[in-house]
Amino acid sequence: MSRVLVIGCGGVAQVAIQKCCQVDEVFTELCIASRTVSKCEALKEKLAGKTKTVITTAKVDADNKDEVVALIKAYKPDLVMNIALPYQDLTIMDACLEAGVNYMDTANYEPEDTDDPTWRAIYEKRCEEKGFSAYFDYSWQWAYRERFEKAGLTALLGCGFDPGVTQAYCAYAQKHEFDTIDTIDILDCNGGDHGYKFATNFNPEVNLREVSAPGSYIENGRWVEIPAMSIKREYDFDGVGRKDMYLLHHEEIESLNENIPGVKKIRFFMTFGQSYLDHMRCLEDVGMLSTSPIMFEGKEIVPIKFLKALLPDPASLGPRTVGKTNIGCIFTGKKNGEEKTYYIYNICDHQECYKELGSQAISYTTGVPAMCGALMLLTGQWNKPGVYTVEEFDPDPFLAALDRYGLPKKESHAPVLVD
Ligand SMILES: NC(=O)c1ccc[n+]([C@@H]2O[C@H](COP(=O)([O-])OP(=O)(O)OC[C@H]3O[C@@H](n4cnc5c(N)ncnc54)[C@H](OP(=O)(O)O)[C@@H]3O)[C@@H](O)[C@H]2O)c1
Repeated sequence: MSRVLVIGCGGVAQVAIQKCCQVDEVFTELCIASRTVSKCEALKEKLAGKTKTVITTAKVDADNKDEVVALIKAYKPDLVMNIALPYQDLTIMDACLEAGVNYMDTANYEPEDTDDPTWRAIYEKRCEEKGFSAYFDYSWQWAYRERFEKAGLTALLGCGFDPGVTQAYCAYAQKHEFDTIDTIDILDCNGGDHGYKFATNFNPEVNLREVSAPGSYIENGRWVEIPAMSIKREYDFDGVGRKDMYLLHHEEIESLNENIPGVKKIRFFMTFGQSYLDHMRCLEDVGMLSTSPIMFEGKEIVPIKFLKALLPDPASLGPRTVGKTNIGCIFTGKKNGEEKTYYIYNICDHQECYKELGSQAISYTTGVPAMCGALMLLTGQWNKPGVYTVEEFDPDPFLAALDRYGLPKKESHAPVLVD
């Protein structure tokens, strides 16, 4: 028996909400709240008669802390699932602290306005101290640790697939496969084809900011930064086939470096097709990925927001995307004094996701772990006050839930390694 407030009703939230409604013995009451309430109403309608979960909807601007506090106080949820955008993470965390409720999200904080001088000063200091220049990092949310601990509340950060399941895979490898882990390669392959020359699989603004940033990885405890897309490898993915993949900065590298003792190297690779890369480079070269406002015919516009308006809505890609995703982690390390390797991953089929929930696999592979993370918190299987990333909890019940609710793991004890 639980009441959950979900904030956001985009591609990922729609999967998470539909999945919560499949587990209606736990998710007994759910409020779907977002900026555009018509999307919440439409989803409520779609679920009518298919679940015992009692669904209500609300309009909320999650950039406004007081609005979120008022909604939490009125609805009195056990958990707030933030599946809006990373820009809202801190306001929603503040609201959860003020109203006394547990919190979770799927992506770590980054500011919407990267020209804000106060934020920029802190960011530039962090770039220098840490050695990577992505706009997002954990420091903002880790700063809430003591406040959540003192309030006896839990905040679960980044519970999608990557970040999220990839960290549970690391915790699982550490618990069951290794005494010490030396290297972790996270491989994110999307072998799906939506037929468009250029489209992004989740929020275009967040996605393009992420992939156009310089790449970086951890080597011997230190960040190494490289120009965007300058390290390329080819890998033969189970269920997908051979794909080019590129080294990216990714948020879980930062927390894994803190939480996996003795790890020497952590890298993240994502596959991209040539057409995606050509379009992205061109858009970047002409300034369309810029987050800084410009004046256009007497009106202020932000180029990347204008681009977002032109691109297909990721939530609309479902019917036309065919193929599979394969996301997982390859480890090297030692067990009982012997060198060993291990690969744990999931394969997900775009069309099967569409048949089940009307979504493509990127939203599915993020929304299902969000539901499973919420399930862990609501059933008390993950329960410790403070602010935590996924690898800091027991991976076993979480991976068992993923097996059961649509993202089963596959394993190999003799994987091909990435050089
Ligand atoms: N961990 C992972 O593996 C992973 C993978 C993919 C995505 N993600 C994360 O998942 C989250 C959702 O992505 P998505 O693709 O579902 O995005 P999306 O389709 O753009 O949906 C975002 C939703 O948030 C709502 N929203 C935005 N600003 C809001 C505000 N100020 N107040 C209330 N609601 C607001 C939007 O409302 P409107 O309809 O009014 O715009 C929309 O319903 C993002 O944080 C993304 O980074 C994580």
